[in-house]
Amino acid sequence: MSVQLEAIIPWGRTRHEYELMFNLDAADLRKKILGCGDGPASFNAEMTHAGMAVTSCDPIYSFSGADIAAQFHANAATITDQVRASLDTWNWDYHDSPEGLLANRQMALRSFLADYDAGKAAGRYTVAALPQLPFAAGEFELALCSHLLFLYSNQLSEEFHHRSLHELCRVAGEVRVFPLLTLAHQRSPHLQPVLQRLGEAGLDAQVVRVGYEFQKGGNEMLRIRRR
Ligand SMILES: C[S@@+](CC[C@H](N)C(=O)[O-])C[C@H]1O[C@@H](n2cnc3c(N)ncnc32)[C@H](O)[C@@H]1O
Repeated sequence: MSVQLEAIIPWGRTRHEYELMFNLDAADLRKKILGCGDGPASFNAEMTHAGMAVTSCDPIYSFSGADIAAQFHANAATITDQVRASLDTWNWDYHDSPEGLLANRQMALRSFLADYDAGKAAGRYTVAALPQLPFAAGEFELALCSHLLFLYSNQLSEEFHHRSLHELCRVAGEVRVFPLLTLAHQRSPHLQPVLQRLGEAGLDAQVVRVGYEFQKGGNEMLRIRRR
């Protein structure tokens, strides 16, 4: 059994997890970054605190922090129970246990919430949804998209993926997407068709191994650059 979710839920990761999921090195961290679908991740909060430049966009930023926290708490027990029921399909090197996983997600949520109102006022948390983003062409050096595309392949069509990746490439010089597995821990059926179409469009799209693996076998990201 794997985690089964009807809706795309706010469940956020930390800066350290982003660094591992996307192989971010010191030079990457200094780039002007878009986090697309960042939800209640603490990447923006932690990066801003360290003097870096991150803008996050997500449709849930139309809600208040209290509403986002309520959505998180409404789903936390279901997710943790489903993970507990499928323990051996996960790699526990990072989170250690379902309790450790929940503690890490709660830590990210707390950092996010502490930063949310100030970040919204500063334009760092922007209401926006793929496949169309309200940003100028080339506004960012790097766009990161974690646990949205490919993961929710049942809910999001191949065409949605295609349009979304092109939109991310429009607004950023480089795009990285993690993971490439679905919620059922299988390689997304959208990956190969999307890779082919990106290549046909003259983009350099590579599957790259990364230093993070929670879903067993989920240790790859998609990196897209202009040739
Ligand atoms: C599972 S969370 C992942 C949050 C964060 N990226 C992380 O990995 O910690 C998925 C997020 O995608 C957001 N989302 C859903 N549909 C979206 C869309 N069309 N465009 C951008 N974000 C979307 C959800 O609101 C949610 O916050």
